[in-house]
Amino acid sequence: MNPNKALWEKGDFTRIAQSMRNSGEALAASLGISNGMKVLDLGCGDGTTALPEAKLGADVLGIDIASNLVAAGNKRAAEAGLSNIRFQEGDASDLKGIADNSFDLVVSIFGAMFAPRPFDVAREMVRVTRPGGRVVMGNWIPGDPTLVAQVLRISSAYAPPPPEGFISPMTWGIEANVVERFGAAGIPATNVAFQRDTYHFEIPGPPTELLGAFRQFYGPTMNAFEAAEKAGRAEDLQQELAELFNSQNTGTDGSTLIPATFLRVTAMVE
Ligand SMILES: C[S@@+](CC[C@H](N)C(=O)[O-])C[C@H]1O[C@@H](n2cnc3c(N)ncnc32)[C@H](O)[C@@H]1O
Repeated sequence: MNPNKALWEKGDFTRIAQSMRNSGEALAASLGISNGMKVLDLGCGDGTTALPEAKLGADVLGIDIASNLVAAGNKRAAEAGLSNIRFQEGDASDLKGIADNSFDLVVSIFGAMFAPRPFDVAREMVRVTRPGGRVVMGNWIPGDPTLVAQVLRISSAYAPPPPEGFISPMTWGIEANVVERFGAAGIPATNVAFQRDTYHFEIPGPPTELLGAFRQFYGPTMNAFEAAEKAGRAEDLQQELAELFNSQNTGTDGSTLIPATFLRVTAMVE
């Protein structure tokens, strides 16, 4: 079994995605989508950005490595009555079956960053984008003090060491690495722009409820808890994460609203 696929099929990212819908809509609204634009949403999950892109009139293909999320995306699209979007299984490291120059816009929000072989990922995203098109990525930033970067940092401190040669997904949050990867795919540094942006995690309940969803349904945190349980350290991990979620919460009256900073990358394809 492909460990990358296993990681995301192990959990149920739809349970986290429910807290990210407003930010997904805001992000899609910022993409300059016009009617009939061909959009690939890569590592799309259950369509937090893909559905809003389709609602804005784009012709959307969502690709994700996790079959459960592809099914969830197709179900959400059907429920929304959208016929201009479909979800299918695929790997951002190797978009076989997708022709060159197929899309006006390739979007990958916290998606392709998790695929192995980042140079292949950059090459594939550029290959399927038409000349004059764009690739837009949202990537968590290593060392950033906000929620997700810290969840991933804390989780990896409890999880077993990764296999030799493993390249951390967080390296997609380092501008020099992004420039190098797109450079190898033929995109000059002058065509790559960076911006700090913010996502919000929102639920009506308290931050510990959101943490519960991460513990039960988010692959990287699930693995950390499994390892921590074996080492008798699950309570330490729970406490460290609870402090993080509680301290980052800006919600009032018992609800949760946690901002998280990410690196927004725009690569112009010539
Ligand atoms: C953090 S979730 C983000 C999902 C979605 N973009 C969103 O904003 O809700 C990461 C997603 O990337 C997908 N993913 C991980 N590795 C992938 C790969 N190699 N190819 C395609 N998708 C991948 C996962 O299955 C998961 O749906």
